[in-house]
Amino acid sequence: MDKLIIFDTTLRDGEQAPGATLNEREKIEIARQLVTLGVDVIEAGFPISSPGDFRAVKRIASTVKGAVVCGLARAVAKDIDAAYQATKPAHGGARIHVFLATSKIHMQYKLKKAEDEILRLAVESVKYAKKYTGDIEFSPEDASRTDPEFLFRVVEEVVKAGAVTVNIPDTVGYAYPAEYGTLIRAIREHVPNIHRAVISVHCHNDLGLAVANSLEAVKSGARQVECTINGIGERAGNASMEEIVMTIRTRRDSFPHVTAAINTQEIYKTSRLVSKLTGFVVAPNKAIVGNNAFRHESGIHQDGVMKKRQTYEIIAPEDVGFTGTSLVLGKHSGRHAFEKRLAEMGIRLSEKELIRTFEKFKELADKKKNVYEEDLVSLIEDEINKPSEVWQFDSLSYASGTRVTPSATVRLKKQGKSSAVTSTGDGPVDACYKAIEKITKVKTRLLDYRIEAVTSGKDALGDVSVKVQAGKKVAMGRGSSTDVIEASAKAFLNAVNKLVRQEKKAAPFHL
Ligand code: KIV
Ligand code: ZN
Repeated sequence: MDKLIIFDTTLRDGEQAPGATLNEREKIEIARQLVTLGVDVIEAGFPISSPGDFRAVKRIASTVKGAVVCGLARAVAKDIDAAYQATKPAHGGARIHVFLATSKIHMQYKLKKAEDEILRLAVESVKYAKKYTGDIEFSPEDASRTDPEFLFRVVEEVVKAGAVTVNIPDTVGYAYPAEYGTLIRAIREHVPNIHRAVISVHCHNDLGLAVANSLEAVKSGARQVECTINGIGERAGNASMEEIVMTIRTRRDSFPHVTAAINTQEIYKTSRLVSKLTGFVVAPNKAIVGNNAFRHESGIHQDGVMKKRQTYEIIAPEDVGFTGTSLVLGKHSGRHAFEKRLAEMGIRLSEKELIRTFEKFKELADKKKNVYEEDLVSLIEDEINKPSEVWQFDSLSYASGTRVTPSATVRLKKQGKSSAVTSTGDGPVDACYKAIEKITKVKTRLLDYRIEAVTSGKDALGDVSVKVQAGKKVAMGRGSSTDVIEASAKAFLNAVNKLVRQEKKAAPFHL
């Protein structure tokens, strides 16, 4: 049986999804969870793209143990130097991932270079990276639209130069399964030295075929898949890890030759964490991790499942860690029980954070009879990100009704200094947002606003996610509270903080 290498690119390609910016602490938290999940390689970022990305990759490399840490680089020395400097502290090994486009359209219009020049650059960059580490991956970007003869030559030459993984990206999600599988088989047939490298695949979801293409490639001999949690990524996203892993596991009959070392019981938790921190809501009907993925509505189905689960369920919810809503604590729970519960949930907090979140938990337990695991996750995510936020939420009061002009007074803090502004608006949420804009002086456009209840019950926490634009920058924000106006204000402020923090990234995809 061959091992299928799971290469997670949530922190690199996933973070390239418009609005999905993560701060350093959030990236480390996700990286830690990816290790618990059991991924083999974490693509932690694109170090040359910004000082923030460089720092985050370096922090992940030096703190996270149990996976290879990879940094992306264009086929130029300064990128490769940065990828090496950022990944070199990695405990589980460092990988440099070099990419260069090889399709006619990219070479002619984007790179303005002929085939021979591209081939030379590809080989030179791999040789250059090789002086740093043996673990070199090369990606001929837009491989699925590359002339196959040229692609074979590039793959053969980069393997000769020292690449030990050759990734075949379907960069624009153009391929369909039979065609992509044929391409992988053709590479195995026409590249004489291909046995010296692992064939990897990296599929985008523009036609909704990323997972199908990845699976077909595995059947055709690929032994590494590049994927993201919840399928987040550029445009329509990347292949979703949970779908690939669970297909291989559920359809062992069709994938008898490969096995992935993923601890599937961590899937649900990882999905929630990524959703929470990126602000990307998981659709209720999303395969494997959607809220409805294990819900049976029709009476016939419910009856069938009660008689024999497998009648309508091909995956046991527990296998992906979906345990339903579990009651954890109440208003009489003490600090010790709180701490113990967090440890069981795999949440690590510093002493200071623990004190702060325990206070918040007590406040929540006063308003809400039962506190569930999901409530705790929401509360903690809200709390631990606060110190890194430029503007901190202090207080809010608002008035609204059918015969009054809605108004809100918001008080925010910046470096200990507090400012309050009162605004009116179309509704209390609009009034809050206008007040926040006035204080922060960030002019925004609200692109999306969603609210969902974290658990059931009238006293449930409301979880608000927003997508906000300021100029060319887009950010997602999330906030929760038993008061939905407060949750809305926190979500908006969270997004505004991300906009303020966003560093201008160097144009990463142009040579
Ligand atoms: O989609 C793509 O081609 C990429 C490469 C950098 C591998 O993300
Ligand atoms: Zn990609």
